[in-house]
Amino acid sequence: MLAGKRILLGITGGIAAYKIPEFIRLLRAEGAEVKVVCTPQSLDFVTPLTLATTSGNPVVVSLFDAHSGTWVNHVELALWADVMVIAPLTANSLAGLVNGKTDNAVLVTALCTRCPVVLVPAMDHDMWEHQSTLNNIQKAEAMGYALMRPEYGALASGLIGQGRMPEPPAMLQFLTLFQQCHSWWKGKKVLISSGGTREAIDPVRFISNQSSGKMGVALAEAAYCAGAQVTLVRTRGSKMPYFKNINCIEVETALQMQSAISGMANEQDVICMAAAVADFRVDQPSLQKLKKKDQGLNHLIWVENPDILKGLAQENRPYFLLGFALESNGNVQDARLKLLQKGADALALNSLTDSGAGFGTDTNKMTLITHDSTYELSLKSKTEIAVEILNIVAECKLKSSQV
Ligand code: CTP
Repeated sequence: MLAGKRILLGITGGIAAYKIPEFIRLLRAEGAEVKVVCTPQSLDFVTPLTLATTSGNPVVVSLFDAHSGTWVNHVELALWADVMVIAPLTANSLAGLVNGKTDNAVLVTALCTRCPVVLVPAMDHDMWEHQSTLNNIQKAEAMGYALMRPEYGALASGLIGQGRMPEPPAMLQFLTLFQQCHSWWKGKKVLISSGGTREAIDPVRFISNQSSGKMGVALAEAAYCAGAQVTLVRTRGSKMPYFKNINCIEVETALQMQSAISGMANEQDVICMAAAVADFRVDQPSLQKLKKKDQGLNHLIWVENPDILKGLAQENRPYFLLGFALESNGNVQDARLKLLQKGADALALNSLTDSGAGFGTDTNKMTLITHDSTYELSLKSKTEIAVEILNIVAECKLKSSQV
């Protein structure tokens, strides 16, 4: 998906710069063209020869070469790019960037860009948490820069905390999704449910369903890369997201999922109910393991679980509400009826009869139904389907805000 893209990499002087050649290698393996501009300080951590060799292009460190007397046209370099990524971005360069300082080649070039610029700050935990950094991050976001937040983990100082630059494969995935998702998502709050709920029968047994959580996680990852603040309410045992900065809440039962979601619903811009919620639970699960000889499993009493999606569909809700449905026949008329009954804004329909779609697969084929349109999403990876869904939701929101 990055094939043919022109990526301008800005590198500033943080220890994580040593990982950038690996990032360049991954970008080029995807077919992207890469050019590098870096600060002199970054060359304490990575050599210009490595960067030039991996990128296949000369590296710009200074805008003026004293030996040859040549001048690098930073405007041309900035306008060449489809996207600029500054990684790692130090606290110092971040401060320079948001204040329009131009004391190194990275900052000068960044100031000349017309393309999106993705910032990947990396620094020690206390620097990241410092009020001046937080203010600068806020300013950078308000100025339209995209942000891939640092991760929690071991830092070069020996401390453990927030500040690590994400690993190159995570940066590649982020950039790929960022490039494809609608910019409407930037700064939006999104809540997504995923996985199949488990309803206890006794301390050993439960009833659940086949949901792997993959579709919900794909949506959460795409929304995160599009710049949204994402909360994923996922069931125990279901897929975990790749990005550590997605806020995950683990639940087990439908009632737990309902209470986790209802507490946060009104703060959200979008809620996606991708979870497969059990319609019934056992009334008063046994506190002791039910023994075969006592026939207890033959006498379970079932009570209906609340319909979380329906409960979220109150009038004048602040959020866009997307439901999911997996049906045996994939009948669009039935799904449209379900959309009306649930009171959601859109419903993504899966059919069990479509090969490559549904539970556990990495691909999907869906029909997305809104109150006035039907979108056919042909068979592709769940990640690509997630991007299409997010882009349709963004278009719906933009359309409704124009009315
Ligand atoms: N859903 C929910 N709470 C439930 C059951 C379902 O929030 N107790 C949500 C699901 O997360 C999904 C949508 O409703 O977004 C449709 O789920 P589905 O299982 O297809 O619908 P049901 O109402 O359970 O209808 P049925 O199983 O009879 O088709």
